[in-house]
Parts: sequence; structure tokens; C-alpha cells
Amino acid sequence: MNTATKEKPAKAIVKTRKRAAKAPSDALRDLFEAELKDIYWAEKTSTHFIPKLIKQASAKELLQALDNHLNETEEQVSRLEQVFELIGMKALATKSQAIDGLIRETDLRLKESEAGMIKDAEIIACVQKSEHFQLGTYTTLISFAKMLGEDEAVLLLEATRSEEHGTMRKMADLTEQTIQLF
Ligand SMILES: [Fe+2]
Ligand SMILES: [Fe+2]
Repeated sequence: MNTATKEKPAKAIVKTRKRAAKAPSDALRDLFEAELKDIYWAEKTSTHFIPKLIKQASAKELLQALDNHLNETEEQVSRLEQVFELIGMKALATKSQAIDGLIRETDLRLKESEAGMIKDAEIIACVQKSEHFQLGTYTTLISFAKMLGEDEAVLLLEATRSEEHGTMRKMADLTEQTIQLF
């Protein structure tokens, strides 16, 4: 007899009731704050991880792009701190499981390849995945901020989103520039 399966539906109902008790605008604000903490962790962690990628990259154009990316990311961290301030919250980071997993996976793959074209391709792949994650998060945050009437935060978040978009395009170009098989 599996008691665990019996208990699950009851727990789920309790949780749903708890959530429903909160005003939708408060629940949305909670979600907005949770997403902010998540992306704050991702950006801060990136400022430590990008230098590791720079150490392992070979192509000059990629090194230059990663260097720009690092400067932008540092600026994005400070923009997020401004957003926290605007909404009257202390800047807090919550570990992003998605970015943590991506970093672990990239670390493993980079250990397996020698410096050169394929290692560069792996670095680009990692940055592309991270940028897509960030683009999705910022797009969501912008929508939430608009709904919550946080207009100044919207402007800051939009500035970062457009940089993430630029990095994605740059990385897509670099894939074809740095990988030459024939
Ligand atoms: Fe970023
Ligand atoms: Fe970025």
C-alpha cells in the first residue's frame, strides 16, 4: 500500500488554497521578486564564469566578444541592483538551478576538449544557452514589471534585454566564423 500517493492530492489542494488566498497582484509581485533574485544570481555568477571561459578561448574574435560580454554583464548586475532599489528591496541572489546546471555541464565538456576550434564552439554554445535563458527571463520580468506599474524598472530591464539580444546575434555570427571544417 503506497501511502505517499494517497497523501499527494490532499497536499496539492492545500497548496492551491494557500495560493488562492493571496491577492493576484501580491502573488505576481512575489513571482517578480523570485525571478529577479534568480537572474541576479545568474548575472553575478556569470561575472565569475566568463573569465574562466576567456582563459580557455582561442579565437581572437571570440576573446574580444567575451571581454565585451563580461563588461556588459557587470553593468547588468548593477542595473539589477538599481531595480531592487527601485522596488524597495534588498538585492538578494537565489541560486538559479538552470544556470548552475549549464555551468557544470560546460565545465565537464571543456575538460574533455583541447584548446582550439571545438573548445571555442563549446564556449559559444554555453554562452548562447545562457543568453537564451536570460532573454526569456528578462522578457518575463519586463511584462511583470509593466503589470505591476514599475515603469522605471521596465526601462532598466529593457536596456539589458537588448544587450542580451546583441550577444546572441554576435555568438551566432562567431559560430560560423570560428568553425571552419573544410
Ligand atoms: Fe546578462
Ligand atoms: Fe548576457
